[in-house]
Amino acid sequence: MMRTHTCGELTEKDEGKQVALCGWNHSIRDHGGIIFGDLRDRYGVTQIVFDPSKSSNVHKMAESLRREDVICVKGVVRKRDDDTVNENIPTGRIEVVAEELSILSRSKTPPMEIDERLQVNDDIRMRYRYIDLRRPNMKEHIIFRHKAAQAVRSYLSDAGFIEIETPMLVKSTPEGARDYVVPSRVNPGKFYALPQSPQLYKQILMVSGFDRYFQLARCFRDEDLRADRQPEHTQIDIEMSFAEPDDVFNVIEGLISDMIKKVSGVEIASPFPRITYKEAMEKYCIDKPDIRYDLFITDVTEIVKKSDFSVFTSVIEKGGAVKCINPGRDFGRSELDGYIEYVKSIGGLGMAWMKVTESGLESNIVKYFSDDVQAELLSALRPKPGSVLLFIADKPKNACEYASKLRSKIAKDMQLYDEKELAFCWVTDFPLFERDEETEKLKPMHHMFSMPKKEDIPLLDTEPENVVCTQYDLVLNGVELGSGSVRIHDRKLQEKIISLIGYTKDEIDERFGFLLEAFEYGAPPHAGIAIGFDRLVALLLGFNDIREVIAFPKNKAAQCPMDGSPGRVTPKQLKELNIKIDET
Ligand code: AMO
Repeated sequence: MMRTHTCGELTEKDEGKQVALCGWNHSIRDHGGIIFGDLRDRYGVTQIVFDPSKSSNVHKMAESLRREDVICVKGVVRKRDDDTVNENIPTGRIEVVAEELSILSRSKTPPMEIDERLQVNDDIRMRYRYIDLRRPNMKEHIIFRHKAAQAVRSYLSDAGFIEIETPMLVKSTPEGARDYVVPSRVNPGKFYALPQSPQLYKQILMVSGFDRYFQLARCFRDEDLRADRQPEHTQIDIEMSFAEPDDVFNVIEGLISDMIKKVSGVEIASPFPRITYKEAMEKYCIDKPDIRYDLFITDVTEIVKKSDFSVFTSVIEKGGAVKCINPGRDFGRSELDGYIEYVKSIGGLGMAWMKVTESGLESNIVKYFSDDVQAELLSALRPKPGSVLLFIADKPKNACEYASKLRSKIAKDMQLYDEKELAFCWVTDFPLFERDEETEKLKPMHHMFSMPKKEDIPLLDTEPENVVCTQYDLVLNGVELGSGSVRIHDRKLQEKIISLIGYTKDEIDERFGFLLEAFEYGAPPHAGIAIGFDRLVALLLGFNDIREVIAFPKNKAAQCPMDGSPGRVTPKQLKELNIKIDET
């Protein structure tokens, strides 16, 4: 071994010991003859003393040391003088007096400081990720992620789940995004897809009798990137046979509480609250509500359509909706103008408002609302005098989006919640389908393997968009953390749902034939879920951007500035793959 100890290990108890330490030269200070260095590794920092009176050769070499050179120091541990003790680090009471120094590797001037307190440009961090990962906070994130993964594995394994790897080169698994495809050299003109998730394979494992499966599964999706979306992400992927939603909820609540207790020391109350999709849309205008605060949105379309306010009535005539937020307090003119600008900045038409006084509603639009309409509004919203009512009118989908974003902004501005609180909830009973805005065709709201509610199965023939299914989402602080459902395990029903989405018989056979065939050989009823592991770890550490917890993420253009991927391949590779690039 080149080293006897790590740089985070030595204390006063080691005084007098002959030690060897290896690491990065974090900093170096010449104090008039004696040179002090900080030697850093994954475990901590140890002060090294290069004293010319102990070894002039070593001292001379130390003069040439630069930041981030990799060195090995042999020497003796001694207590520091009282006035140089650093109580902030475990090794702060000792130093190592160097007797030998080997320079194992030289470093160029690093493009960033190894100090998380200094802001570094994102591009530099991505380009030199290996240096970024030396920064203490990044190192902690990666270690935290490792501990979280270990906690997941041990909890699920103890609960009888078997970890099974599913293939990376698969038949395209439709999850709503585009596939990353991989050409097959030995099958000219054919392609594998990288899995968007192990969905079909985990269902097939249920048919194989592995009644409790899990995997920390890598998933690949070619979709527009955002702070919480990467081209490749990791899921805690779970499937259970003979299971009902409650069984899945129990496993996940136990798993998440246990993991958070282990990695963050925080107790999470369970069971998590449950709310149906319908209720979530009614109260929060979004299917991933942040329930840390009680700020609700009310649909007032039916009331205000009786007003003479043409901004509302013209929207409603075209099938639009009007949503109202009652923040329970008043806002000044500049705050209101700020919110109007905010709604416009996210694509909305604007925001109307009315103030609630002891004598009724006041604002420059109140004159368009008859006394009856005003009374109806007051009785529906029950606002306290002194509060303001905020209105958003738009197409129903847009009105919901802007109202829910405005709700979040108001809550943040009013500090209605504790940033550190972790508020989980289940959203249940999603519609099975939605209509594609462009093509008007039915598409699965989540994926096509979710079992419709039994009582809604007849509606598949008559009004499929009203079919409610057994899908459930896990939401944390307004972020969709996971999603799952009871699955269809019957070939006929599965075929019917796939065909409602518009696949032809041949396409069904080509893309899903293997799953449907498996269902014909004794398929148990099963249910499952996948939790976004990157999102969970990031949120536990207080980040929205999952790149903070991924060692080698991609940038917003799906590139890795460090390795330069995606890159070109050689003409020989293309030829072998029978691929011609059309550069036009
Ligand atoms: P879904 O597509 O909802 O479900 O994915 C499950 C969870 O994975 C996370 N996630 C992502 N995280 C980072 N980057 C991405 N591009 C990304 N896409 C998804 C989210 C999401 O909630 N097979 C189903 C699960 C099932 O039904 O069992 C599935 O993949 O946190």
